[in-house]
Amino acid sequence: MVREHWDNRMAFILAAIGSAIGLGNIWRFPFVCYQNGGGAFLIAYIVALLTTGIPLLILEFGLGHKMEGASPLSFSKIVKKLEWFGWVPVLIGFMIVTYYSVIMAYCIKYGIASITQAYAQDPSGYFFNETLGITSGPFEFGGFTKQFIWLASGLFISWIWIVFSVWKGAKTVSKVVYFTVLIPWLLLIVFVVRGITLPGAMDGLAYYLTPDFSKLLNPSVWLAAYTQIFFSLSVGFGIMIAYSSFLPRKTDLVNNAFIVGFADALTAFVGGLAVFGGLGYHAHVLGKPVSELSDIAGPGLAFVTYPAIIANLPLAPFFGVLFFLMLLTLAIDSAFSMVEGLTASIIDKWKFSHLKANLTVSSIAFTIGLVFCTGAGLFWLDIVDHFMNYIALGISVLGSCIFIGWIYGAGKIKEYANSISEFRVGKWWEISIKYFTPIVLVLLIGTEFVNRVRGSYENYGRLPEFLAGWLILVLIATAAYFMYKSKGRD
Ligand code: PHE
Repeated sequence: MVREHWDNRMAFILAAIGSAIGLGNIWRFPFVCYQNGGGAFLIAYIVALLTTGIPLLILEFGLGHKMEGASPLSFSKIVKKLEWFGWVPVLIGFMIVTYYSVIMAYCIKYGIASITQAYAQDPSGYFFNETLGITSGPFEFGGFTKQFIWLASGLFISWIWIVFSVWKGAKTVSKVVYFTVLIPWLLLIVFVVRGITLPGAMDGLAYYLTPDFSKLLNPSVWLAAYTQIFFSLSVGFGIMIAYSSFLPRKTDLVNNAFIVGFADALTAFVGGLAVFGGLGYHAHVLGKPVSELSDIAGPGLAFVTYPAIIANLPLAPFFGVLFFLMLLTLAIDSAFSMVEGLTASIIDKWKFSHLKANLTVSSIAFTIGLVFCTGAGLFWLDIVDHFMNYIALGISVLGSCIFIGWIYGAGKIKEYANSISEFRVGKWWEISIKYFTPIVLVLLIGTEFVNRVRGSYENYGRLPEFLAGWLILVLIATAAYFMYKSKGRD
């Protein structure tokens, strides 16, 4: 079978940037930033980007390109048995896309609601009751309500959109990414200009960026910076491995990694300007200082606070539709990259047609996603999200560093990447992959582990945490084992 290819280098770079840039840049980054020292956090963030983020991108690009395979095939070419581990990252990505697509369904509902400004009266009630129909706990699913039907329909639309975006694999993605990367960027510029010209905006920006350098002495600030980098760059999900395996033989890996890393960081920073400009305005309208706004972080931001800000703007319906269109176009290429990570792995192993692999993966993911559309959905979504990002992702990246850095030999990937790149990496790269990144990861996983032993995440209780957290981790490892054991086709 001839391996599929990108149309050109630009298509690859845009696809990788599209995967990296997502909801994580627009609402997660700005809040992590202000909670951890504002402007000073940018220093920790850039250090994290250079010391682990970009090295890991180079690692994944180098591995996929050298081995010409998605994650499982690439790992099996190192040592046959490592194919088992190679399935882990793509299955984590698969779990994430089951709920990431539900957040896209919220965006669709809000895009439509923006036309009539249905959320203007009571933004919080509109989110929790009208949209989610939230129940009192994880085991009360709430039945077949109108909220469920709305979200399930939105989910269905999201999945149709995802399936069509990757219809013929890299060929289709090569065309789609011009829209899904450039449109959100144009919209982001509109929102930055709108955000920083609103009355009160400067107070918001001061809140976001005033540096508190003393925070840099606090280890938890550094851990926050590293966690944000892993999630935001989409490393540890096998996506970048699959994407670089579709590159032509002659290419420049190191340069590409720097471009993708910096584009992602820039988007996060600029996203923060729009968000905090808007929050400054919100505080101004309410006559409160920015620090007293409640529910400033988490899903509340995108679906409660932002709608409230939009409702107060002149031309509210117009800005509302654009805002949710921006979130959707930011999310879509992250979503389909997670699908492609798994689809490409299945094609490598069983030689399925792209369409068949795509439809299989997508319909299973859609079905699982229906759980997150119920009245208890947000509880489960929150737990799964936390476990995937804080534990599963950490284990996945740690495994890559150990297996490639130590068993295969970081030096070989370095030589390979350098041999085809204009810009060459030095010894620092090997030090990052073999020593520095693993140490950071052990600290991250260790801290999280201690916290989880101390108490359940957000006090949801031990049973939900067991089911949506630990059990899913075990299921991922088991599924990876079965994929590895099952007979492929040559
Ligand atoms: N990097 C994306 C973001 O910042 C999210 C993502 C996670 C994408 C995992 C792919 C894989 O939102």
